Amino acid sequence: MASVYLLIILCFIAVVADSAATSTHILLNCGASSNSSDMDGREWASDTSHALSSPSTSASNADHQDPSVQTVPYMTARTSKSAFIYTFRAAPGRAFVRLYFYPSDYDHGTLTASDALFSVTAGPYTLLDNFNASVTAQASATAHITREFALSIPSAGVLSLTFSPSRPGASYAFVNGIEVVSVPELFGSGQFNSPVLLNSARPTQYVVDANTAFETVARLNVGGSSLSPGADSGGLYRSWVDDSPYIFGAAVGVSYAKDPNMTIRYPTTVPGYVAPPEVYSTARSMGPNAAINLNYNLTWIVPVDAGFYYVIRLHFCEIQFAVTGLNKRVFDVFIDNQTAVRDLDVISMSGGAGIPYYTDFVVAISRGGEGEEELWVALHPNVVTRPEYYDAMLNGMEVFKLNDSAGNLAGPNPTVRAEKPGSVGPVWVGLSSSGDSMGRGLGVVGGLLCMLVLSWL
Ligand SMILES: *[C@@H]1O[C@H](CO)[C@@H](O)[C@H](O)[C@H]1NC(C)=O
Ligand SMILES: *[C@@H]1O[C@H](CO)[C@@H](O)[C@H](O)[C@H]1NC(C)=O
Ligand SMILES: *[C@@H]1O[C@H](CO)[C@@H](O)[C@H](O)[C@H]1NC(C)=O
Ligand SMILES: *[C@@H]1O[C@H](CO)[C@@H](O)[C@H](O)[C@H]1NC(C)=O
Ligand SMILES: *[C@@H]1O[C@H](CO)[C@@H](O)[C@H](O)[C@H]1NC(C)=O
Ligand SMILES: *[C@@H]1O[C@H](CO)[C@@H](O)[C@H](O)[C@H]1NC(C)=O
Repeated sequence: MASVYLLIILCFIAVVADSAATSTHILLNCGASSNSSDMDGREWASDTSHALSSPSTSASNADHQDPSVQTVPYMTARTSKSAFIYTFRAAPGRAFVRLYFYPSDYDHGTLTASDALFSVTAGPYTLLDNFNASVTAQASATAHITREFALSIPSAGVLSLTFSPSRPGASYAFVNGIEVVSVPELFGSGQFNSPVLLNSARPTQYVVDANTAFETVARLNVGGSSLSPGADSGGLYRSWVDDSPYIFGAAVGVSYAKDPNMTIRYPTTVPGYVAPPEVYSTARSMGPNAAINLNYNLTWIVPVDAGFYYVIRLHFCEIQFAVTGLNKRVFDVFIDNQTAVRDLDVISMSGGAGIPYYTDFVVAISRGGEGEEELWVALHPNVVTRPEYYDAMLNGMEVFKLNDSAGNLAGPNPTVRAEKPGSVGPVWVGLSSSGDSMGRGLGVVGGLLCMLVLSWL
């Protein structure tokens, strides 16, 4: 009898200790019968555990392996024609929840890729709705899809994810992998300032509170190469991608790495988890010719869904010995055609060369309805203070979509644009515009880039 009590007490202690953990990292390989490691050596646990609710699900195997698709976690999936729920114990506070999808035929054609249509919810939040993974992958010209959300885990320390087929019996729901990783509050907590809402001529502070969930739309290592999750800082396992496909037209400026004897030094206002040193060690500037720079904007275009607020985080760090003092390189930042910053002197804001600085803005993309829209982020030299260089630069950019007042984060499925046979990935059409010495091109981005952002490899 005494030993039973002891066992109960031990179990109780174990559960309490688990829920009181301060950070969580779960990697679940859905549909797998045993734990296995991916190519980065990360171990993914099988989902044959208490985490899964419904008995009517199947552990399914993909019929084909696309060359770009890793075996773990993509070649197995949890599938069902009725709703199923994963329940996780996770540390209270903000966590990234990443969902991994490989839209393939499963179980020898029993389930075809195009029949998957489902929603994913977490408490009051709708993460995906009528999600058609195969058309989403087609539109982004990738074989697999990762979606990253940031949710607040309540104090009870439980996270539930519900996968529901949109047409029960006819369509099915599936998921290949689930990752949950704790992250400090990213916006406006404690010593850090809240983002600035660009509200025509009246910018105001915008608080992203713990009740608001958000989804990563883009995370760019500007002027550098894509970084895999293992290269990220703070144990957050984020993917950073090359920014060049997002640049408007032919005016791509110049990308460069830090001068060899420059070191990246994080100030107390920029904790290391904000972005890894690799992000601050490369940048893109407009170029060496002041006359050309004065004639154009260095512009990134990110495809977004209308009807949501977006947070844009810009990462800056001067990493060239030519720009170590004040009033060397000063520029304006425009977001969604609104002035976000006038006279930005990175050295002045960061405190010196090699010191990272970041700043957050919020814009509402309304455009009167649903559907795909373009978010423009543009840089232009500011000449008012007569700086030494008429130039502008950027090291990194992140774009996050905030849930709407109904707790929704889902947008419509993308439309697949007609592509020329044999063409792969984004298509760029050069159009010369009159009265512009740069002969800027018009980038056809649209839905093609929609998911490119989170699919590395
Ligand atoms: C599989 O991974 C889970 C979670 O990391 C762990 O608790 C479990 O012990 C592992 N199982 C085996 C057989 O290694
Ligand atoms: C997903 O989209 C594709 C392409 O538009 C379509 O053929 C397919 O029927 C859709 N699937 C469902 C279940 O609606
Ligand atoms: C770094 O190298 C540059 C030349 O590339 C030189 O001007 C500068 O003095 C060096 N700085 C340090 C701290 O070594
Ligand atoms: C740069 O962008 C701003 C904001 O959209 C616009 O007002 C300005 O005319 C643009 N400048 C050039 C040279 O394209
Ligand atoms: C921003 O300005 C560009 C031209 O400078 C234009 O093509 C684009 O539609 C504008 N976007 C918005 C939201 O007004
Ligand atoms: C996001 O959804 C939650 C839950 O419905 C709500 O409390 C919160 O206010 C929403 N956030 C925004 C920015 O609308």
